[in-house]
Amino acid sequence: MAMQNASFDPQAFRAALGTFTTGVTIITTQAEDGSPVGITANSFNSVSLNPPLVLWSLSKNARSLPVFSNGKHWNVHVLSTEQEKLSGRFATQGEDKFAEVQLDNGVSEAPLLQDCTARFQCRTAFQYEGGDHVIFVGEVLAFDHSDRAPLAFQSGQYALATRKPRSELRLATTPPPPECSYTEDLLGYLLGRGHYQVLNTLRRMVSNQQLDEQAFFILSVLCIRDNLSLEEINTFVSYTGHEVTLAGMRFLERQHLVAIEGDADQLRFVLTANGRELSLQQLALAKVVEEELSAKLGSADAQALKVLLKRLIVVSDPGLPDLWAPR
Ligand SMILES: Cc1cc2nc3c(=O)[nH]c(=O)nc-3n(C[C@H](O)[C@H](O)[C@H](O)COP(=O)(O)O)c2cc1C
Repeated sequence: MAMQNASFDPQAFRAALGTFTTGVTIITTQAEDGSPVGITANSFNSVSLNPPLVLWSLSKNARSLPVFSNGKHWNVHVLSTEQEKLSGRFATQGEDKFAEVQLDNGVSEAPLLQDCTARFQCRTAFQYEGGDHVIFVGEVLAFDHSDRAPLAFQSGQYALATRKPRSELRLATTPPPPECSYTEDLLGYLLGRGHYQVLNTLRRMVSNQQLDEQAFFILSVLCIRDNLSLEEINTFVSYTGHEVTLAGMRFLERQHLVAIEGDADQLRFVLTANGRELSLQQLALAKVVEEELSAKLGSADAQALKVLLKRLIVVSDPGLPDLWAPR
């Protein structure tokens, strides 16, 4: 069939296609000389359940085209969120793509990667011309899958897929609230409620150590950046709304958690060995709270929540210093 060249802007076409969110796969095969070959591909899709068929398309510019065209078997690996780096490696020409990659034994000689979300071991059933790509249709000979969260790809960027269960979102089925009220969809309410619910669990744990929330913030700042002035401590904890006073620091000194050094007009605060140990214990408690929440949310949603919270922190940052920046 003679095809006319598209008259529309190729970049706009690419951008429009990119809105179709996909997973990310690595497709592997073995060359005639026995060397492993693989590329990152998001053109993978299911075709048929019975017989079990899948497809993907390979650019005619890919160096691996002759190997895939002549090969009889290939494996599709649906990548997990942990495998973003591997995706980058298999998308880059000239990289030693299989360096230090552990393989499993499969039904064919095609390399079978580990730790994926799903794997489909295929035999080439058909090959079709597809413009500047070749379409491979494979019969699935074997497959397996795990509960690892899948990596997603949208508009040229890696993404995380967050589930959207209906039961968790009570949408506008109730009458609209009066003007003076707010809905449970208000971001401030959601953030505030989430924050206090999580913090309260931590507060209970910290209060068992006879310390309050402010002491928790001070010790964690000093654990990351020791030897600070009162002013510096305050810049790091100011986002919490707490104001640390000299009296507060003297209290921590009496508890043998902080040592005060320097001249009266240039006091510096340093964690004692006790203070460091207690802070590390608090960190362990914070991790327990996080693990319990992650188990309830699921690791994929917990990861997505962190990504969004980090973005929220950046867009709402009033210009605070970076606690983790190298000194
Ligand atoms: C997320 C993502 C998806 C990709 N999907 C495809 C695809 O479906 N088909 C394709 O030919 N190339 C695709 N590529 C590009 C190839 O991975 C890249 O060109 C690779 O270097 C080809 O390897 P080769 O030339 O060594 O064979 C994709 C790249 C990325 C990052």
